[in-house]
Amino acid sequence: MTGPTSRPTWVVPPQGLDVTVPNVARIYDHLLGGKDNFAADREAARRLLAAVPDAARAARANRAFLARAVRFLAEEAGIRQFLDVGTGLPTQGNVHEIAQAADPRARVLYCDNDPMVVVHANALLADNLTVVASQADLRDPDYLFTLPVTRTLIDINKPLGVLLVAVLHFLPDGDDPWALVDWIKHRLAPGSYIVISHVTGDGIPAEAAHAAAEVYQGASAPGVARSHEEIARFFTGLEMAEPGLVEVSAWRAPLPARWPRPVLFFAGIGRKPLPEPRAVPGTKPPA
Ligand SMILES: C[S@@+](CC[C@H](N)C(=O)[O-])C[C@H]1O[C@@H](n2cnc3c(N)ncnc32)[C@H](O)[C@@H]1O
Repeated sequence: MTGPTSRPTWVVPPQGLDVTVPNVARIYDHLLGGKDNFAADREAARRLLAAVPDAARAARANRAFLARAVRFLAEEAGIRQFLDVGTGLPTQGNVHEIAQAADPRARVLYCDNDPMVVVHANALLADNLTVVASQADLRDPDYLFTLPVTRTLIDINKPLGVLLVAVLHFLPDGDDPWALVDWIKHRLAPGSYIVISHVTGDGIPAEAAHAAAEVYQGASAPGVARSHEEIARFFTGLEMAEPGLVEVSAWRAPLPARWPRPVLFFAGIGRKPLPEPRAVPGTKPPA
């Protein structure tokens, strides 16, 4: 018996998909050890790792943070509806699996501006009626919040967990990501949570950060590393859950880190404050 003599058809990319441009979802998939990526994505990941050898470790740490954050929201904060913006390609420990382990009735709306991500997610979710993936862009939150599927799945008047995990760094300052996050905060019911993780250049030499940014200049979206202070501004007006905005693997980590690591991501969770109880004339405020 001889081996295959031609390229199997399943590796031929779907029509309309430009696989010559490295794609941010697929570069991340490759860093996580996934299979849904093409040569240009792997080459971009190789260049990224040459500049920042810790990038794959940081991607895994970010994914582990996402799981801890969803568990925190579902198990401790009682959140039952989730909006995951910048979902990424399905991998292990997807948001709906963690949320529905806490409560099978939990609802999850996945949104991504990459059609390939949405196709993969919907294929995975074919049998799950309380989890939907939709194509939407974080730069147009109004569209995202008024989609029929959003209105069907999410009750915007009840607390919602909004996940902006490893996505805001794909929005350059010119898109004013702070204003976009403020828009979302304004729209949320009190008691809602916003989860953010974001790439930083704070912990690596400037040349390495520059080389990493160059890799993303040629990709489907540019990558913008931000400082702790710039990332903290996304949480303005929110109450920070302990331990605040910290290195991604330090956020409620089960075990302390065993060796010093370069800081590549900061992560944190903020809650929209509940309104102050209104004083009823003639009564004393609660002690
Ligand atoms: C690095 S992946 C993060 C995946 C997942 N949130 C995680 O942290 O494991 C970033 C995702 O954000 C998506 N993305 C980038 N810019 C976006 C935008 N403007 N609107 C919606 N999604 C975006 C990409 O397509 C990609 O799937």
